[in-house]
Amino acid sequence: MSTFHYGHDVSDPATSLLAEIDRHGSISFARFQELALYGDGGFYELGGAGRGEDFVTSPEVGPLFGAVVGRALDQWWRELGSPEPFVVVDAGAGSGALARAVLAAGPDCSHAMRYVLVDRVEAQRARHGEHLDLEPAAEVFPVAAEDELGQPMPSGPAGPVVVSLASLPRLPFVGVILANELLDNMPTRIAERVGGEWHEVRVARAGDTQDTTFVELVIPAHDRHAGLLDRLVPVAVDGMRVPLQEAAADWLREASSVLESGVVVSIDYSRSSPELADLPMAEWLRTYRGHDHGGPPLDSPGTRDITCDVAIDQLALVRPIDRQCTQAEWLVSHGIGELVAAGRRIWRDRAGVGDLDAVRARSRVGEAEALLDESGLGAFTVCEWRT
Ligand SMILES: C[S@@+](CC[C@H](N)C(=O)[O-])C[C@H]1O[C@@H](n2cnc3c(N)ncnc32)[C@H](O)[C@@H]1O
Repeated sequence: MSTFHYGHDVSDPATSLLAEIDRHGSISFARFQELALYGDGGFYELGGAGRGEDFVTSPEVGPLFGAVVGRALDQWWRELGSPEPFVVVDAGAGSGALARAVLAAGPDCSHAMRYVLVDRVEAQRARHGEHLDLEPAAEVFPVAAEDELGQPMPSGPAGPVVVSLASLPRLPFVGVILANELLDNMPTRIAERVGGEWHEVRVARAGDTQDTTFVELVIPAHDRHAGLLDRLVPVAVDGMRVPLQEAAADWLREASSVLESGVVVSIDYSRSSPELADLPMAEWLRTYRGHDHGGPPLDSPGTRDITCDVAIDQLALVRPIDRQCTQAEWLVSHGIGELVAAGRRIWRDRAGVGDLDAVRARSRVGEAEALLDESGLGAFTVCEWRT
């Protein structure tokens, strides 16, 4: 359904983007990406057309990734002293595939678990209830009860309790915030080195008001951005471009502030700002459409995903990273090998029966290959911040 606003049909991101450009002259690339992905009629707003259909993330490979995450959750839960409740926030939950796999794996901490799927997009949240029994949001933080000696007692229903929210919980909690391929989808500014100075790559209308194509407009960067860029990329030459990921940094700040005690985890394809500056922009700012590369980022906003490799040093400026490794290393450290070996045994014992358990067990081998692939998902970077 389209809506009428400011005299324009804003169900089309191109229309609202052009209207905003006409009001302001030019907009940041971050604003362009924001409206293209999350505005009315934006890529993620188009219900069905999430990345699930356009790109495969680790949880969408199959249930193995969630089973390993379940083992990691158990480890963190024990390290935290087996708290009840233990809040697990699945930030940027998308279709809910990770939630389904974690819950199906039945980790030891399940009885204490409050599993919170968070997605800013209503159409994505609408998918959460399709395969999960969701509870009202108030069940995440039940009022604490005390026993006759005044000691805190576990309260509320036994876990896992599953809820779906539009943003991170505001009340401080003990647990884990895990963001798989969230930060690469956050709006980013783009900077370019021109004439020995940092500039910002903004987005403008190509011609007069009849022209509906978008072009880049490069203008001197704000002093605040230029200062930060000098720090991030001290050796810069003309023509270099680098993303400035303020939204990802803000997210990490917010996640850290709401976590009383526990772990924030991000998993994305990542590099440092100097590494990004050394590469052509098309190597780190990518578009996807229908399982394929989706063409230039300014073309047909709303019809394609726009993602940016995460500049890990920009996150480290917000908070030093406590653990950093590849996804392959992380999965191995949390026992993916044992799960695959168990799968092989089940397949060997049940291959003759050929039931669903046998088929699932066999598929673990293929899933593990995809998740550990050093030229694909296995090369993603896992970052952990402890509180
Ligand atoms: C690439 S998908 C990843 C989905 C899922 N984590 C997975 O691995 O399959 C990114 C998701 O993050 C959501 N998202 C983007 N920005 C967000 C924010 N600031 N807060 C919550 N969700 C956000 C998008 O709507 C989208 O569903």
